[in-house]
Amino acid sequence: MLNRDEILNYLKSEDDELFQIADKIRKENKGNGVHLRGLIEFSNICKRSCLYCGLRAGNKNIQRYRLDEEEIIQIAKKGISTGYKTIVLQSGEDDDYYTKDKLCKIIENIKKFDVALTLSIGERSLEDYRAFKNAGADRYLLRIETTDKNLYKKMHPNASFENRIECLYNLKSLGYETGTGVLVGLEGQNIESLADDILFFKKLNADMIGIGPFIPHPDTPLKDKFNKNAFNLALKVMAITRIILPDINIPATTAMETFDKNGRIIALNSGANVIMPNINSEKYAKNYQIYPDKAGITDDIIKTRKLLEEKLNSIGRYISKDKGFRK
Ligand code: 5AD
Repeated sequence: MLNRDEILNYLKSEDDELFQIADKIRKENKGNGVHLRGLIEFSNICKRSCLYCGLRAGNKNIQRYRLDEEEIIQIAKKGISTGYKTIVLQSGEDDDYYTKDKLCKIIENIKKFDVALTLSIGERSLEDYRAFKNAGADRYLLRIETTDKNLYKKMHPNASFENRIECLYNLKSLGYETGTGVLVGLEGQNIESLADDILFFKKLNADMIGIGPFIPHPDTPLKDKFNKNAFNLALKVMAITRIILPDINIPATTAMETFDKNGRIIALNSGANVIMPNINSEKYAKNYQIYPDKAGITDDIIKTRKLLEEKLNSIGRYISKDKGFRK
């Protein structure tokens, strides 16, 4: 375990040693298999106004869409037949369309197959979380985004930091493998707050941590806030997280790949062991621009998987054949 000062020293250091240590710990604890999670972005409708996000309610420049139950299940089936062992269902935080019952039906239908199911659909009630779990959901992703309360308030108008924390503990208590994570490179975020983010991951005993560099979206209030250090800093936060939580799952995030064209490989060599390729069709992915020029938008999920496999093999890694639970 690292203490806060040691974490801060790593965050300040320009030494590559951190990444080598994280890579070694990843190898010892998770091996060379990389878990692919097939991501379905089933709706971009969102009632939130997060300052950094292209899906924010106030953005009138995107075409909004919702996939219905049958479409979602069909895409999941396609992913499963391509070899995906985990399906991730992600959306904006919707109005009332995707009710508890609708989502439970979707979950039950996908879970008829031999696959793990992850939800990433934002803050819901304890009752909803319980129903999704009973319907078969295995995991849940809900990034805290930042544990700096003041920064959180600035970034998320009309949202409650306390409620988000409560959601994470509710998910944990219901037995979900619980994923969280943060954005790195926001204006007003300092390394002290990043150190506290990492300590929070440990305190929650998160099962998965996703870290992404902030990438400005032109249709958001943060459009001019590009931070050129965001990638390097995000990579450090990720590597330190691997050291303090050696056996968890850590994705090489799409934001990393978007920020740096070799971002995924760099992340996989610095502690990451998961990739989350998009498996919905291009026409939807194009409208799911959380940030611009999102990497990996394609209609040919078989070809994408092949290319990924070749890339992984070139660095001595391979696509894992199991579902990739933490334990
Ligand atoms: N740049 C990078 N990541 C972003 N996210 C949202 N907007 C951006 C952005 N502009 C991340 C958030 C969210 C995840 C789905 O995408 O951390 O939790």
